[in-house]
Amino acid sequence: MNFVLLSLDLAGAAKQPADALVVLVPAGYKPGKDGLGTLMTQALKAGELDTQAGKLLALYRVPPVRAARVLLVGAGEGSARQVRQAMQAALGVLRSGSPAVKKLLFCFAVAPQAGALRAAVQAVADTSYVYTTTKSKADGRSLARVSVAVRGAPAAAETEFARAVATVTGVEFAKEWANRPANHATPTLLAGAARSLAKLPKVSCEVLGPREVARLGMGAFMAVAQGSEQPLRFIVLRYQGGNKLQAPTVLVGKGISFDTGGISIKPAPEMDEMKFDMGGAASVLGVFRALAELKPSINVVGLIPSCENMPDGRAVKPGDVVTSMSGQTIEILNTDAEGRLILCDALSYAERLKPAAVVDIATLTGACVIALGAVRSGLFSGDDALAQRLLAAGEAAQDLAWRMPLDEDYAEGLKSNFADVANVAGRAGGAITAAKFLQRFTAKFPWAHLDIAGTAWKSGAGKGATGRPVGLLLEFLLGQEKGSLLGVQRSSKRSARTRKA
Ligand code: BES
Ligand code: MN
Ligand code: ZN
Repeated sequence: MNFVLLSLDLAGAAKQPADALVVLVPAGYKPGKDGLGTLMTQALKAGELDTQAGKLLALYRVPPVRAARVLLVGAGEGSARQVRQAMQAALGVLRSGSPAVKKLLFCFAVAPQAGALRAAVQAVADTSYVYTTTKSKADGRSLARVSVAVRGAPAAAETEFARAVATVTGVEFAKEWANRPANHATPTLLAGAARSLAKLPKVSCEVLGPREVARLGMGAFMAVAQGSEQPLRFIVLRYQGGNKLQAPTVLVGKGISFDTGGISIKPAPEMDEMKFDMGGAASVLGVFRALAELKPSINVVGLIPSCENMPDGRAVKPGDVVTSMSGQTIEILNTDAEGRLILCDALSYAERLKPAAVVDIATLTGACVIALGAVRSGLFSGDDALAQRLLAAGEAAQDLAWRMPLDEDYAEGLKSNFADVANVAGRAGGAITAAKFLQRFTAKFPWAHLDIAGTAWKSGAGKGATGRPVGLLLEFLLGQEKGSLLGVQRSSKRSARTRKA
């Protein structure tokens, strides 16, 4: 999909060729005296046009407008959230109609508020995304070009637009890999996806296999992988945009390509959804895809431990004790609590990178789905400043998180008679006890954990990956850029106005 930013007012946008024109109309809007303006004034007066977010008025062949289909859509107060709602409603109507809209033009009737342009671009991309990889026919309904008209299009709009388009690219890369069925997204294929990213500017990739991982002493990771025919992969992605001495921010993504539960096997209903158990890994891949697009002056390392969790004659058994890379021994009481086992070794590996901060991203617990549902990801961190930055990034990107507690009392249930720690506690506070387990491996650096079990994918008729939390992570990382305002000005100068997603 091609995104183009046009510096046009409403009258100018009306003259553009497109299959459909969507006009975002906020409350209190005073239309101009041009053809479309007059029509809007009448429609507002008659009550046919409602400025509540998501209310629609569909028109066909309105004389001054070149696009055959015109949708006037209420944008409420014009906040990012309301603009997203409005674009979702508009795209819902356009996508259900025929003929298919290939060239879409949307226009802000008044200059967009902070975050609204980004919200609109992301909503368009989100609602028009279609998964096709394992279908025999391509989808004929996908949008080819999306033009966005903003009056005067100031430098700030250009910067926001560039970020939005890069985020879309990253989100779609994450969706693609998370959506692929487990037989089309094995640990080896995921490593291939990471390697393909290393062709992009400033990105490099290294992939470790079973032998190297054994040499590192990652006994917890190896224990999860041992029941599968698919060899494990430990993926190390590097984005180097800053100078070599700058400490990197490390992202660790859970890459369980399929989670059967292992010997502690899961029930059959909805087990297919455990192909999404590499959603954390997919979000790390998506972030690197977007970084290569935006080229900020920061250093980022992505770590992805990837394997299947399978029941087998060789599989790890409940009660087995393994030694993690940190030297801590772990009693694996439940083989279905495998995410924390692969992550703890990746966190120990992160130590050697002398990171500025480490953020892990994982579809870790069903308990987090119960606690927060599909709206906010669970955020855990002992570092208040880091937690605040991540929460704020989530708000700015409309990719929300909610901070959860890490009181030491929650670790009580992880005590074991046979090892230093057990991999599960009781059912109570399951998302928190999982985070407490991980925290034992993070003493040497500022750390945060995002439990995305409820937010990484949707179930039901619209089943599919969301690409979350690529938006949050990218916003967080771009905020680390030193003198980030200067960086923004520089990049907007050399930015092209046409961008491909
Ligand atoms: N991948 C699952 C978590 C999950 C479950 C995410 C359902 C989304 C929906 C994870 O590996 C898991 O199985 N966790 C167990 C932990 C339990 C055994 C302590 C869980 O949440 O049931
Ligand atoms: Mn599991
Ligand atoms: Zn899992």
